[in-house]
Formats: sequence, C-alpha cells, structure tokens
Amino acid sequence: MTADIIDGKAFAVGLRGMVALQSGQLKADHSLVPGLTVVIVGEDPASQVYVRNKGKIAVEMGFLSDTIRLAEETTQGQLLDVVANLNEDPAVHGILVQLPLPKHIDEGAIILAIDPNKDVDGLHPINAGRLASGQSALVPCTPLGCSMLLADQFGQGGMSGKRAVMVGRSNLVGKPMAQLLLAEHCTVTIAHSRTQDLPAICQEADILVAAVGVPEILGGDCIKPGAVVIDVGMNRIDAGGGKTRLTGDVDFDAAKEIAGAITPVPGGVGPMTIACLMVNTVTAACWAAGIDTGPAA
Ligand code: GUN
Repeated sequence: MTADIIDGKAFAVGLRGMVALQSGQLKADHSLVPGLTVVIVGEDPASQVYVRNKGKIAVEMGFLSDTIRLAEETTQGQLLDVVANLNEDPAVHGILVQLPLPKHIDEGAIILAIDPNKDVDGLHPINAGRLASGQSALVPCTPLGCSMLLADQFGQGGMSGKRAVMVGRSNLVGKPMAQLLLAEHCTVTIAHSRTQDLPAICQEADILVAAVGVPEILGGDCIKPGAVVIDVGMNRIDAGGGKTRLTGDVDFDAAKEIAGAITPVPGGVGPMTIACLMVNTVTAACWAAGIDTGPAA
C-alpha cells in the first residue's frame, strides 16, 4: 500500500481563502486593514521571486502590501533605519526582511531590531522564547504550516504521545518545529548533521519532519511503516539533459511505499509557508488593534 500524499497546495488555497475572509471581516468590523511590508536587499534572483509572490498574495488577501527594495550596497545602519521607521508606522503590522542578507550585514542584528509584535517571520528571540514557554507567539511560517498539515492528519489531540523526530535544528525550522510538536504532547527528538545512526532514530518516528537541505538524504531505511512524513527540503538537483528539478530531503519514491502519509516536493510544505505569512500578518494586526485572536499558537 502506498502512502497518502498530503496536498499542501490545496490546503494552502483553503487557508488563504480563510485569511482573505478574516481580512474582509476586520475591515468591515474594525476598519482594520492588515499591513505587510517586505524588505529586500540586493538582487538575489530566487529572493526576488519569493518577494514578488509574497507581495502579490498579500494584495489578494486585501492587505496593505508594500515592498521596499534596497541596493546591495545598503549599509547595516541604513537597513536598521528602515526597520526603525517600519516599527513606528502604525499602518505596518508585519515586517519581513528577506533572508539571506548581503554578507556585510549582520542578520542577527537586523532580526533583533524588528519589533517582536511585527515580526511575522517569528525569528526574534522574544518570539522564540514566547513559543518555548507556551505564550502567544508569532511562529516561523514554515513550521507553522507543517503543524497545520499535521493537525489535519491527526485531528484534535491526535499527536499526543506520538514519537516525533525533527531532523534539522535551524532557528527558522527545526527548533520552532520541535517546540510545536512538544506543545502537541509528542515525545520529541531533534536530530542533526552530527547525529549518530540517523536511520535508527528516524525509524522510531510516528511523525518525521525533515529540514536538512540535503537532497534525498533520508531513504526508505529512515521511515517507520505508517509514519507521517513532512519534507521541508527544497533542493534543486540535476535532472539530466541540461535540466534541473526540485526534490526534498526525503527519498520520496522509497518513502511513499512505507509511510502512511507524506508531503511531496514541490506542492507539500512550500505553498503553506506563504499562506502562514498571511496568517501571521492578521495575527499581528489583531494584536496591534487589541482584538482577541484566541488561544496561543
Ligand atoms: N528566505 C527564505 N525563507 C525565508 C523566510 O521564511 N523568511 C525570510 N525572511 N527570508 C527567507
């Protein structure tokens, strides 16, 4: 029997629809228009595509959407000034500084300068701390999307007591994802590049989340029969004939014969990330206006 394929693309369409409805409701009931400003420094082609998409979808949500494009030579001081102005602007509820930044700019210093209540990337240490201590937080978009796909698979309370293995320990995905799994009462292991006997650890996982950035590093020997596998990897590899293709961190063809459910690459986690950025922008706008957004993330 082959695994169910988790359709993140369809889920993201539904989620964006819900956010657009919420956005319309906020405007009608509170005269509140969520505002998202994305800042990009330099000309990295992949970042340009991501940023264009974010702006386009924010407009579709009915948000006030702005993109600030800065030259590669922009200094750290100039970027800090831009962030300080956005922090002060009441029409801007969400600030996203696209990463990576040029080498002469300290990413950590920029992230620290963003008002934590406008930090729709969820990267500020205040938001990491809020998440780790069970308070309402802005949660990084990719793990937030993964947790929504998992909640949909397992249903309310369905992850409680399950063994979860997070492969990867980045601030952007691995660490916050582990916290979200812990909040769902999973027994969580964080594995990484120094982990010994990775397949043995992964084979224990009822829930396996991969965010390593190494194409197809997790083979069939890493999958427990019936496991739910979430593949965050987005690796571009040679497909022969001068072409390339996208692939995940999991060997999809091998894993789908063993897993219970698995996200494809592309079309799994990827589309959820932008949709969750829109969710976070609505959350930040509601916080700014003192509107209750329900229980902690
Ligand atoms: N670059 C690639 N992914 C991301 C992300 O989620 N946030 C930011 N700010 N930059 C990125």
